Amino acid sequence: MGASAGKLHSVDANAKLPSIEELKRGLFVPAGGLLSAPPVPQPNIFPLGWTLETPKLAEIYERAKVEGFNPSSIPWDTLDVSAFSADARIAMMYWWALLSNFDSSGPAVFARAMIHAFEMHEEDPVRKCFFSITRDETNHEECCQRAIQLLVPNGPQGFTPQTELERAALNNIDWLYHNGGRYWTGFNGAVTKYPLAVLFTSFMMGEVASSTLFHGMARATRHPVFEQVFRSIGRDESRHLQICITLLEKEWPGLSDEYRAFVTKQLRAGFVFLSMILWEPPMLFWKLPDYFLNNHRVLLDIARRAGLGILTVDEQADNWRVAIAKVRKLLERWHIEFPAIPELDIDGVDVGDITDADIIPVF
Ligand SMILES: [Fe+2]
Ligand SMILES: [Fe+2]
Repeated sequence: MGASAGKLHSVDANAKLPSIEELKRGLFVPAGGLLSAPPVPQPNIFPLGWTLETPKLAEIYERAKVEGFNPSSIPWDTLDVSAFSADARIAMMYWWALLSNFDSSGPAVFARAMIHAFEMHEEDPVRKCFFSITRDETNHEECCQRAIQLLVPNGPQGFTPQTELERAALNNIDWLYHNGGRYWTGFNGAVTKYPLAVLFTSFMMGEVASSTLFHGMARATRHPVFEQVFRSIGRDESRHLQICITLLEKEWPGLSDEYRAFVTKQLRAGFVFLSMILWEPPMLFWKLPDYFLNNHRVLLDIARRAGLGILTVDEQADNWRVAIAKVRKLLERWHIEFPAIPELDIDGVDVGDITDADIIPVF
């Protein structure tokens, strides 16, 4: 009924419609001409336009629309958690909580960066790519959420620990969360201060590292559900890496020397920050009690034995070396120096201490 009523109405209305010429006669132009609208104070989120400078980014965005995955479609109910011991469950939950300390910042960190890209009137595909990463990171966070709820309901922080191992896990998670909060404060202050090239170098360290990590874990895990999760996240992270590299190839040539040095420092910051999930953290930036690392190792050993897919510490170090070698090769082309990473016997420039404000990297 609605449709036919609408049709009748439009036929009636058409009969009475004035011609376009008649409508145009209704325009009003003051004697002195039209008034210019005042300029919009900048920065402002409205570019009101869709400039395209980098077609490759537009292509990646198109791919992101169809390549992404739906965490609800993963057959979580096929993971038989009752087959694991309570110790294995808490230890595996600990690893997901460790991951979520990084991945839970992803949505807000990239949403923040996306707003910044709008304010800076970056070309259309840059804005859209940031949006796609925000969406992907929300999915990654959801995977952490689902895995944690399956393994330890009300985890990572809302459960009541019953055993020594559970108490140690919860305490470590509280400390990780404390440091995650410090990271956000630093990131929030830095994101508007630096050009995109600097921000993206920091992001790139995380994307190189995470794409390698998830592909490695997909191969190492003994559980098909986790394999599917790691594979899906790994595919997203590889795409994020392509976004970073494409953007940097565009931005790096115009980078000033001052920022070039800052980029070098950011790479070291990336190593310090991301080693917590990728390897073992150097005691810079991280504020942790001295027993933290000891308990962390115990929990990861148990989770590893349960077949979660955590690589050995040596394999993780090799992973980092491969990831760093890739980044280093990219940087050489733009004459950006690489920082020393003595922890992995990698030589380079000494960039000094790493503080809260230096940690811009994302995962
Ligand atoms: Fe992610
Ligand atoms: Fe990512």
